[in-house]
Amino acid sequence: MMSLSIRPFTASKFAAEVSGIDLTKPLCREQIQAIDEGMDQYGVLVFHEQRFSDETQLAFSRQFGELEFSNGAELYKERRLQQMELADISNLDPAGRLRPATDHMRLTALGNRLWHSDASFRAIPAKYSLLSARTIPGTGGNTEFADMRAAYDTLDDDLKAGVADSITEHSNAYSREQIGIPKAEYGEENQIKLKPVRQRLVRYDSRTGRKSLYLSAHIGAIVGWPIPEGRMLIRELIEHATQRKFVYAHAWRQWDLVVWDNRTTMHRARRYNDLHDVRDMRRTTIRGEGITAEQTQEAA
Ligand code: OGA
Ligand code: MN
Repeated sequence: MMSLSIRPFTASKFAAEVSGIDLTKPLCREQIQAIDEGMDQYGVLVFHEQRFSDETQLAFSRQFGELEFSNGAELYKERRLQQMELADISNLDPAGRLRPATDHMRLTALGNRLWHSDASFRAIPAKYSLLSARTIPGTGGNTEFADMRAAYDTLDDDLKAGVADSITEHSNAYSREQIGIPKAEYGEENQIKLKPVRQRLVRYDSRTGRKSLYLSAHIGAIVGWPIPEGRMLIRELIEHATQRKFVYAHAWRQWDLVVWDNRTTMHRARRYNDLHDVRDMRRTTIRGEGITAEQTQEAA
């Protein structure tokens, strides 16, 4: 068996590079456990040269839990990728052509450039996301990650106390609204999927004993607060959490697999020339383990 080694990037302590493992082959229990422990310790793990097919990516991902269906699959009929558990993070249409400037899927996908946590708009939000780079653009198109445990730890004490029990409302509609896409565009039949869900603003992780700020562009309100006041606090917290000292910027190589924990990190896509260069990434997403709003907070 190859020996897996995990080495943090010197500049960002919550992201690490893993070597000595081929994820496209079946793994043993110890290897899965080592990856889970690495995810608990860090929050972002980078693996190079993982030449996944859709099938091997799905098989690898299933070893970490139940997979989510991709949101695009639910909101739109047209699909390029066959499996519902694969989110198509690309600028291609079902025929494999670049999407034109006014394409509605292209425009909604721009929402990925807002800082977010995947599927925070679902009652049971995502645990890990696994993003495989199949084709990368010539320049641009980095993905940035922010360390939400460090963000929590460095809050002022009065702010920590002020948000300790806060509950937020998340909906895809709120993030889309920020880039000017109205709710109505999703049609009558999808309105139910835009209904806000409640999440804790501060999450506690019993495995590591650490707390994290659970922020996302999908947040539109803090329960019990006037809307503008809630939104301004969320904006302030996102600014705090995404200071450069808490951010790891991933510059992709083809066949990278990056795994992140949506409970302890946020992320965003960066701009690239998407009308000209192909960027084909495929994401599998592991379902979380429970409803965060019902989670109890251990004493700090
Ligand atoms: C995602 C995502 C960012 C990117 O796959 O969930 O937000 O850089 N991707 O494509
Ligand atoms: Mn995302």
